[in-house]
Amino acid sequence: MSGKKAPRQVAFPLNRAFTFVESGPVLLISTRHKGKSNLMTVSCHASMGFEPTLGICLGPWNFSYAALVGTGECVVAVPPADLLTQVVEIGNCSGETMDKFSVFQLTPQPAQEVQAPLVAECLCNLECRLVNRKLADEYNFFVLQGVRAWRNPSPPDGRSFHAVGDGTFILDGEVVDLRRKMTKWQDCI
Ligand SMILES: Cc1cc2nc3c(=O)[nH]c(=O)nc-3n(C[C@H](O)[C@H](O)[C@H](O)COP(=O)(O)O)c2cc1C
Repeated sequence: MSGKKAPRQVAFPLNRAFTFVESGPVLLISTRHKGKSNLMTVSCHASMGFEPTLGICLGPWNFSYAALVGTGECVVAVPPADLLTQVVEIGNCSGETMDKFSVFQLTPQPAQEVQAPLVAECLCNLECRLVNRKLADEYNFFVLQGVRAWRNPSPPDGRSFHAVGDGTFILDGEVVDLRRKMTKWQDCI
C-alpha cells in the first residue's frame, strides 16, 4: 500500500449507470426494404467476435426495425467526427416520412452482398446478415455477421465518436501504440 489516500467513491443513480460504459463508436445502420433505403443511429452495440460478429440493440419503435427483420440484412457504417451533428439528427427523425440519405446529403453506394447501401462518407462499412435474434424479444438484441468490409482510404477526418448517453459525445483522441507489449497476441496485430 502506498501512503497515498485512496479516493472515496460516492453513490450514483443506477438508472444513469449505463453512461459509465459506452459500447464503441456511434454507428449508422443502413437498410433497404420495399424499395426504400434508410439510415438510423445506434450507440448500443457489442463486438462479439473477430469473424466479425457484432450485436446491436434496435428497438421496434424504429422504422428500421421492420427493414432489418424483414430483409435479414443491413450495412453497419462508422461515421467520422465531421458528421457528428448529422448523425445525431438522423437518430432524431424517422425514415417513414423522409429520405434520410437525401435530407442529410449522404451518398448511398451499392453494396455487394446485401441490398442495403454503403454510406460513402463513412470511415468504413460492413455488409451484414442477421444471424441470430434469440434475444430480440427480451433485449431488442440482434446478432449480425459481417460478410464484406469496406473502408475509406483517405478520410478528411479519421476520428470516430462515442456517445456517453446523456447527449454528450467523445471524439477519438490520442493513439497509443503498445504492439510491443502484445506478446501473447501476435496473431491479432
Ligand atoms: C446518439 C444516438 C444513439 C442511438 N442509439 C440507438 C440504439 O442503440 N438503439 C436504438 O434502437 N435506437 C437508437 N437511437 C435512436 C434511433 O436512431 C432513432 O429512433 C431513429 O429515429 C430511428 O430511425 P428510423 O425510425 O428511421 O429507423 C439513437 C439515437 C441517437 C441520437
